[in-house]
Amino acid sequence: MSHTNQAIVTGASGLLGSQLLQNLKSQNYETLAVFNQNPELVSSGVKKINCDIRDKKAVWALKNLINPSALIIHCAAITNVDLCEKEKEMCEAVNIGGTRNVCELARQTDSKIIYISTASVFDGKAGNYKETDTASPVNCYNLSKVKGEEIISSYEKGIIVRVIPLGLHLSGRKPSSFLEWLVDSFRNNLDVNIFTDVKINPLTVTTVADMVIKAAALMESGLLHLGSRDVVSKAEVGIEVAKFFPKYKGKIHLASLEESSQNVANRPKEMWLNVDKALSLGLELPMVLPDINQYLKYFKWKKAFTYL
Ligand SMILES: NC(=O)c1ccc[n+]([C@@H]2O[C@H](COP(=O)([O-])OP(=O)(O)OC[C@H]3O[C@@H](n4cnc5c(N)ncnc54)[C@H](OP(=O)(O)O)[C@@H]3O)[C@@H](O)[C@H]2O)c1
Repeated sequence: MSHTNQAIVTGASGLLGSQLLQNLKSQNYETLAVFNQNPELVSSGVKKINCDIRDKKAVWALKNLINPSALIIHCAAITNVDLCEKEKEMCEAVNIGGTRNVCELARQTDSKIIYISTASVFDGKAGNYKETDTASPVNCYNLSKVKGEEIISSYEKGIIVRVIPLGLHLSGRKPSSFLEWLVDSFRNNLDVNIFTDVKINPLTVTTVADMVIKAAALMESGLLHLGSRDVVSKAEVGIEVAKFFPKYKGKIHLASLEESSQNVANRPKEMWLNVDKALSLGLELPMVLPDINQYLKYFKWKKAFTYL
């Protein structure tokens, strides 16, 4: 019997992890969902297991549940940038120590591991970042992700995927991402300032999940940048999302980061990744606005979600 169809997802209760599990399930993977504190946020119908990845013994005990040569997709992390700044030790323990433990689990089970990293390992001054460019993290969270990448790259079956995901948590978490902030503002008729000169090439979490699973089949190891084929401003994303809120009564101010009088001098302006490698692997990356449009339509159609 082949065991190659098993996938273990850490951070299964998170934005990307929960989406990955849905995609894996629909592709008939045998899945194992690893969560920490929020089992209710793990998609239904998957096998769940509680494990704090800081606890080496608890992580290694997962060995008993993992088939040899499984696929581990490591999404668990402290993702709140401000919290990482305030609680440096916790950030390091989870994002670096936890990654070390999960990577060791992969090694011991001869599994391929995909580590989800971020475009913000770069400082956002230049944009068009290639896999060969040197990371330049500007805060504790980003530094912890770079250290996590170093751990994974020392394992011969380690793959690092850098992304800028856009998505909505299914329930139970406060708005934290750019898309959630937009949706929350439009739903509550709040005025928004969106920058016309901050450039990004994000992918919705459904697309990220799809591409990550495809990349797992195409790569043995190494680094991959995932993003949309085109680059847009945050303002363009905001205007697209606003179309879903025809009753919105607030004001959208299109602002320039350059001209903004607030203390934003160090905010990154060019947060976009070069995706030539992904395209050369045959990954069919979408354009930003159609990807977002399709994602939000799906949310709207699934009335179970409270956002739209
Ligand atoms: N969201 C973004 O904008 C973004 C951008 C680029 C890259 N990434 C990366 O993508 C990955 C997934 O991000 P996300 O947005 O899906 O994160 P998220 O929604 O904040 O979820 C974080 C996940 O990590 C788990 N976790 C936290 N501490 C843990 C611990 N000690 N032990 C085990 N699990 C723990 C949480 O479990 P519980 O909820 O059960 O506690 C949750 O499932 C992360 O590695 C992140 O760095 C995210």
